[in-house]
Amino acid sequence: MNIQLDEGKLSKIKADAILLHVFQDEAHFDEHGIEIDKALDGYLSELIDDGEITGKSGEINLLHAMGRIPTERIVLVGHGHTADLTLDIFRANCAEVARFLRRKKVKHVTSTPYSNQDVGFSHADAIEAITEGTLLGLYKFLKRKGNRDNDSSEDEDDDFNTLTLVHDWTDKEGETRIEAQKGITKGTIIAESTMLARDLINEPGNHLTPTDMAAAAQTSADNSALKCNVLEQPEMESLGMGALLGVARGSHQPPKFIILTYKGDPDSDQTICFLGKGITFDTGGISLKPAANMGAMKGDMGGGAAVIGALTAIGKLEPKINVTGIVAATENMPGGNATKPGDVLTAMNGKTIEVENTDAEGRLVLADALSYAQTKNYSPLIDVATLTGAARVALGTVCSAIMGNDQSLIDEVISAGDRVGEIYWQLPLFEDYKEQIKSQTADIKNTGGAPAGAITAGKFLEEFAEKTPWAHLDIAATSMSSQDKGIRVKGATGVAVRTLTNFALNRADN
Ligand code: BES
Ligand code: MN
Ligand code: ZN
Repeated sequence: MNIQLDEGKLSKIKADAILLHVFQDEAHFDEHGIEIDKALDGYLSELIDDGEITGKSGEINLLHAMGRIPTERIVLVGHGHTADLTLDIFRANCAEVARFLRRKKVKHVTSTPYSNQDVGFSHADAIEAITEGTLLGLYKFLKRKGNRDNDSSEDEDDDFNTLTLVHDWTDKEGETRIEAQKGITKGTIIAESTMLARDLINEPGNHLTPTDMAAAAQTSADNSALKCNVLEQPEMESLGMGALLGVARGSHQPPKFIILTYKGDPDSDQTICFLGKGITFDTGGISLKPAANMGAMKGDMGGGAAVIGALTAIGKLEPKINVTGIVAATENMPGGNATKPGDVLTAMNGKTIEVENTDAEGRLVLADALSYAQTKNYSPLIDVATLTGAARVALGTVCSAIMGNDQSLIDEVISAGDRVGEIYWQLPLFEDYKEQIKSQTADIKNTGGAPAGAITAGKFLEEFAEKTPWAHLDIAATSMSSQDKGIRVKGATGVAVRTLTNFALNRADN
């Protein structure tokens, strides 16, 4: 997809379609819509008066210009009342209309930015949202499709591939074409980093082993201001990462402890740390999962993918802040050497863990990742994991669960997510929940029974975050989508990439 800027009159430039933004206000159009309406002798106003076009959020209409302007098709997307408009709504509608335009087989679309000082929309913000919405809404995972020529709908040359944003860049004070271009660049970096995470998650387990995941992190580092360091099994052994290694024992694939570092503020000794669960396939181990839908467990590295995606975006946007990303990557397999229910493992911080259920492996690998982060004095710690089916039972697929030991950090993450349309709902970590993970034989056990399963997983992790400000994001229910909706398409969503990126950008700004 090529997103570019141009100037001049929208009505004079020839393309396959013009895309106009419509609002449910007294004034349905900005200056661009008014221009097209005039060029069509008031045709749009007439349709509005007849109630055909309302401007309701998500409403899409297609009209023909009947030769009155060089571009024949005019597509209108509604965004609702401007007073209620958020960047998130705008971005989601841009994604929906991008898929509509693709279904109409248009390749080149001209459109406009939108700005509204009253609701805090600059042209650059709108352009960033248009860019993100278009790229993410059109995303498809085609890497493992064989012969694409058999299905023209999947032929990229025929796809919607050029979006030209037309505007008179000099007419608004303080807003220049350079800032607009920055919106495209930022939106593209963030969308591409999200799509990188989606690609990793959608990739089947045999094509994305821990080794492949480490290679993907290395590739990101090669193309940005990141450094990648991968700890191999012998180093994990000498560091005492018994919990992670306990999970890896059942697999023939070597585990990888992936560390991506970004140093945007060398004068500061503070480093934020994002930690991701990187189970490249979760069979459950000896506590084997049922066969139905086990294939979805190729996505059990969604937290790790979000960390790689966020670091990739940060490494390209280069904010003035230090960030380290850690991915604890391994398979969870039931091999002959696998950890057995009842086994006791010792984590890097010395705590002993009774493994009651080998399918509660995510918290084991994160235990060592959090312990490792302690030794480096990273702060705050934010972990992301497809951790529990219980998160889905509690909250459904509408939002991710957030927990932690520091309310102001939790609030900061929630608001960083809010701005990018990734929503979180906090679950409590009351002390009484700890009862459920008390072990007879070890310091702690890795399961807490059915009640409050997402919380007891959080309670387990809390033991390894210790006193450091820490937040935990359980994305088990949101990492994959069952439908195309807004910026999400069926399959991996790349959720948390944009929250973590925005969190780091906000910290750098303040
Ligand atoms: N990877 C799963 C959680 C999961 C479930 C992610 C569904 C995405 C979709 C995790 O490792 C797991 O198996 N958790 C168990 C924990 C239980 C054994 C305490 C679960 O949720 O059932
Ligand atoms: Mn599991
Ligand atoms: Zn898992």
